[in-house]
Amino acid sequence: MMAFSLRNIVAFLPLFHASIVVATLPSCQTCGSPEPSPPAPEPEAFPPEPEVPEPYPPELAPYPEPDQSPEPSEAPIDDDGVFDVTNYGAVADGGTECSSAFSAAWHAACDYPWNSTIYIPEGTFLVGPISFRGPCYNDRSPNVEIRGTLFALSSLSSFKSSYWISFKNLQGLTLIGGPEYGKLDGQGAVEAWKEPSCEKSARCKKLITSIDFINVSHATISNITLSNSKGFHLGLHGSKNIKIYNVKIIAPEDSPNTDGIHVSNSSNISIFSSTIGVGDDCVSIGPGSKNVSVSNIRCGPGHGISVGSLGKYKNEKDVVGINVRNCTINGTENGIRMKTWPGDRPSNAYNMTFEDIVMVNVSNPIIIDQEYCPSHKCKSNEPSMVKLKDIFIKNINGTYSTKSAVIFLCSSEAPCENVQLVNINLNYLVPNSPRQGRLNIKGFLNGLQVINSRF
Ligand SMILES: *[C@@H]1O[C@H](CO)[C@@H](O)[C@H](O)[C@H]1NC(C)=O
Ligand SMILES: *[C@@H]1O[C@H](CO)[C@@H](O)[C@H](O)[C@H]1NC(C)=O
Ligand SMILES: *[C@@H]1O[C@H](CO)[C@@H](O)[C@H](O)[C@H]1NC(C)=O
Ligand SMILES: *[C@@H]1O[C@H](CO)[C@@H](O)[C@H](O)[C@H]1NC(C)=O
Ligand SMILES: *[C@@H]1O[C@H](CO)[C@@H](O)[C@H](O)[C@H]1NC(C)=O
Ligand SMILES: *[C@@H]1O[C@H](CO)[C@@H](O)[C@H](O)[C@H]1NC(C)=O
Ligand SMILES: *[C@@H]1O[C@H](CO)[C@@H](O)[C@H](O)[C@H]1NC(C)=O
Ligand SMILES: *[C@@H]1O[C@H](CO)[C@@H](O)[C@H](O)[C@H]1NC(C)=O
Ligand SMILES: *[C@@H]1O[C@H](CO)[C@@H](O)[C@H](O)[C@H]1NC(C)=O
Ligand SMILES: *[C@@H]1O[C@H](CO)[C@@H](O)[C@H](O)[C@H]1NC(C)=O
Ligand SMILES: *[C@@H]1O[C@H](CO)[C@@H](O)[C@H](O)[C@H]1NC(C)=O
Repeated sequence: MMAFSLRNIVAFLPLFHASIVVATLPSCQTCGSPEPSPPAPEPEAFPPEPEVPEPYPPELAPYPEPDQSPEPSEAPIDDDGVFDVTNYGAVADGGTECSSAFSAAWHAACDYPWNSTIYIPEGTFLVGPISFRGPCYNDRSPNVEIRGTLFALSSLSSFKSSYWISFKNLQGLTLIGGPEYGKLDGQGAVEAWKEPSCEKSARCKKLITSIDFINVSHATISNITLSNSKGFHLGLHGSKNIKIYNVKIIAPEDSPNTDGIHVSNSSNISIFSSTIGVGDDCVSIGPGSKNVSVSNIRCGPGHGISVGSLGKYKNEKDVVGINVRNCTINGTENGIRMKTWPGDRPSNAYNMTFEDIVMVNVSNPIIIDQEYCPSHKCKSNEPSMVKLKDIFIKNINGTYSTKSAVIFLCSSEAPCENVQLVNINLNYLVPNSPRQGRLNIKGFLNGLQVINSRF
């Protein structure tokens, strides 16, 4: 039996071996201040995120003022509200660039004074950068139904913005494929992945997200397959009340920065029943994310499910209320991870629960990394000022490979606070070879409980 009670202790234990840890602590009087953390700075000014640099030049005009009568012009009248892109000039031959046809169909559907659907039939469409922008008639988004396959243009010079497809300023969007799933292939292998990666070079190319949702609310996204993005596959920014399910996201393990789903500045997001195997994080939950639920996800290969990275930019908003549950994380570099940059950019991330997760052959199944600095372009000697607290990790089973089972690299200036490990059962996979340590703690950790756990 071992008990952990670390209060403002500098625990510098890079090779700490906790062979069997079955500990119970009483309640948390020993765990540090029960007071809420100081109110988060709520700055108004906020720099554009690198993934979504404003402005977005090639945007379609929003819905015209109500007194301008909508005119679908020469295009056929779709009086059932279904706007088939092939009626607007799109050709399913995989070689004709279709974005202006998609735009024309969007304008017609967006203006249509009744419910409307953009319909992309079976077949292969080559599509350049395109922005589906609202608000639309009555502030209601058309639905988008994808039966076929969209291929992105492969050359990076075709993209002026940081997305391939964006949906912006819309309410009530349903983006859906059929039972065979609509397919969107970002063609990252042709050119984008060969550029110097941003982790290695300051002169890296901009990352292009396959589908960005910006200021979108009450949307559902389902039955689509995204593959081989040039950058992230799906991005949610400034959006709320979004459900994403029955989605497959596939890119090679060694494709750079191909995160599956990235969430930032968004609330009430639910991501479930999906399979994600990519070259970077399966799901990454960035600054300003509130009430995000991730469940029934198969993740791997990739870098696991992450909160972060946080603390890279000034005036980031807090991350609050994250719940990750019932996921299988298989063959990844990390399992569940919280990552923050060194340096003086304060914010908070709290109330985060990770539960009922199976790890299969994961290098670092449970990791808090407050020294995250993949580009080596940070003040790595400065402690992170991102406060991580109220972190509940429970019912985690499975196996891990070459690294430590549990790594907590906490900040010395903003100590991790109230971290609970409950019912952790992780087995080291590789017999007869040294591992780095089962529990690896550095920095200040203000209140750790390890209950009924072994790793
Ligand atoms: C239009 O869409 C809304 C929201 O999905 C739905 O409640 C309504 O029944 C639809 N109206 C028609 C006429 O289909
Ligand atoms: C967000 O979209 C709505 C339409 O749904 C629009 O009225 C509003 O101005 C947009 N907000 C921003 C910040 O662009
Ligand atoms: C979506 O895919 C699921 C299987 O993953 C299928 O059961 C369902 O019918 C599909 N939905 C539609 C609208 O095609
Ligand atoms: C966050 O999202 C809201 C709502 O869309 C928007 O008004 C605001 O500008 C966004 N803030 C940042 C920093 O992106
Ligand atoms: C969190 O979001 C879900 C939808 O994903 C919603 O049902 C729930 O009420 C929200 N909870 C809070 C506390 O806002
Ligand atoms: C999130 O969902 C809750 C519960 O439905 C709702 O009260 C809250 O307003 C939602 N938040 C946003 C930002 O829409
Ligand atoms: C857990 O996720 C799996 C799919 O990964 C699903 O089949 C199962 O129903 C989920 N269990 C619960 C309790 O949600
Ligand atoms: C913590 O976050 C969850 C969502 O994951 C929410 O339902 C719950 O109300 C939050 N609890 C507190 C104390 O904020
Ligand atoms: C993990 O991934 C490997 C390789 O793809 C696969 O063979 C195995 O069945 C997966 N295990 C689980 C539990 O999903
Ligand atoms: C972990 O293993 C225990 C004991 O075999 C089992 O009761 C529990 O359901 C498992 N949890 C998960 C998330 O697989
Ligand atoms: C674990 O994953 C590594 C690659 O990350 C692989 O070489 C090894 O064979 C896997 N072990 C098992 C038991 O699947």
